[in-house]
Amino acid sequence: MKLIAGNSNRPLAEAIAAYLDTPLTKASVRRFADMEVFVEILENIRGEDVFVIQSTSYPANDHLMELLVTLDGLKRASARRITAVIPYFGYARQDRKTGPRTPISAKLVANLIVTAGANRVLTIDLHAGQIQGFFDIPTDNLFAAPVFAKDYFDRLGKGPTTVVSPDVGGVLRARAFGKRLDAELAIIDKRRERAGDSEVMNVIGDVSGRRCILVDDIVDSGGTLCNAAVALMERGAASVHAYVTHGVLSGGGGRPGERLAHCRSRDHGQYRGDRGRAHVAECEPVVDRAAFGRGDQAHQRRKFGFEPVRLNTPIDCNTPVD
Ligand code: R5P
Repeated sequence: MKLIAGNSNRPLAEAIAAYLDTPLTKASVRRFADMEVFVEILENIRGEDVFVIQSTSYPANDHLMELLVTLDGLKRASARRITAVIPYFGYARQDRKTGPRTPISAKLVANLIVTAGANRVLTIDLHAGQIQGFFDIPTDNLFAAPVFAKDYFDRLGKGPTTVVSPDVGGVLRARAFGKRLDAELAIIDKRRERAGDSEVMNVIGDVSGRRCILVDDIVDSGGTLCNAAVALMERGAASVHAYVTHGVLSGGGGRPGERLAHCRSRDHGQYRGDRGRAHVAECEPVVDRAAFGRGDQAHQRRKFGFEPVRLNTPIDCNTPVD
């Protein structure tokens, strides 16, 4: 077996290599003057079972291209089987036509990965489970929920809890997580009544006086989490916590970490003081850090305004609960 890492998350690849006691295969990634990517695999991989570890995280297009040319290089070097390990599958949010004359980019990217040479894909918490069907090769979609559930029981313990999906698209994920916690389910329904009007948040389910656990696959600008947390507090939630698999945190017009830390209620200003436990700084986004690309914890603190919690507990993530 051979492991090859792209540049999307070297620390993760090195940790996997150390855990498996298998060194990373030597490879070099260089650029032409016009920024074309050139990958050279520096070891013989003929007949090998090769795992390429590369998220298509920020900068998504560079990391995607690096993955594609690496897969092509491996295929042409006669690897026996090539598994693309893509902890964070970018472009997943473009999984349907959202309007006339728009692409389904997730399908296009899946086609590219298969055409480039992948025989199998391994990923975590796809934005929507049905994206597995976009790949015409076996696709393993692992779940972060067991890791989250262990953290929940270790740190928060049992109590009157409601798991909340921050949007209608995340209901399956929230329901499955709620089963693990033996918690109730609530759903936030975001609506823009007319273009230009601010969003109306309807909360479906009982959250008053309850500990609310938001669960989502992606935190990007932080807007979804923040708005959801405010809506829950306005409806009397006792506290709000969040578990998120992929900390994309790419900006969206500000520092997402700061947005999470200083989430404002529309009517009551910032949630602080004796209600401090409820403000979103304590949301504790749990991320795979695949989306962070390079950077150590200090870098993440500077860039995002907080240091994401990282769960290292080795747990079998391949246990779906529906
Ligand atoms: C949306 O469907 C996703 O599950 C996330 O809720 C969304 O991508 C989060 O984005 P942001 O943090 O920018 O609101």
